[in-house]
Amino acid sequence: MSAAVADPFAKIRTATNTHRGQHGCGAHPYDNGPLLAALAAATSARRILELGTALGYTALSFASGARDATVDTIERDPDHVRLARDNIAAAAMDHRITVHEGDFAIVLATLDPGYDIAFFDGGTPAPALHKTLRGLLRTGGTLITANLNHGGSADAVRKALFDGKTWRSALTDEDGETAISVKL
Ligand SMILES: C[S@@+](CC[C@H](N)C(=O)[O-])C[C@H]1O[C@@H](n2cnc3c(N)ncnc32)[C@H](O)[C@@H]1O
Repeated sequence: MSAAVADPFAKIRTATNTHRGQHGCGAHPYDNGPLLAALAAATSARRILELGTALGYTALSFASGARDATVDTIERDPDHVRLARDNIAAAAMDHRITVHEGDFAIVLATLDPGYDIAFFDGGTPAPALHKTLRGLLRTGGTLITANLNHGGSADAVRKALFDGKTWRSALTDEDGETAISVKL
């Protein structure tokens, strides 16, 4: 089966790559939206938090996987916010996905805890943000961390996720790019 058939949002993923090529920004779309949709479905998620909206590819993937879920997604680039809102409205998902414009740390401070899934896809993971995400995630909730193989502060985050005491974690790929972690 081709990726275009398997991924209902493949066109937005392609548009994100095109946008990055034209604007030289950091809008790298995640590799595997269908994996995120399946995780949302498997966990019967009702509240999903995302850091790093870009053009809305992964927010739409999550929302498509869990039909009763709402998604809060955070993005500071105003062009990305506008394009994501357009894509989300075109997919008729704007009643379930809220794009919060602003810096992660500032917006996170305004959100209520109890999320079922949190997804970090906003550059290199950093311990302080991950601590905040842990606080917003319910016990038994699922944290998905991308870019864990970026080095620097990502190494400290990976160490915490695999401490065996506070998270139950597994890598999804041989490159060590993404971890799925359950909050213990
Ligand atoms: C890798 S892209 C997100 C890709 C998106 N999840 C997808 O798969 O299509 C990272 C995004 O995070 C945004 N970003 C990076 N650091 C941020 C911060 N501190 N606060 C808010 N947005 C940030 C960037 O502008 C960029 O659009």
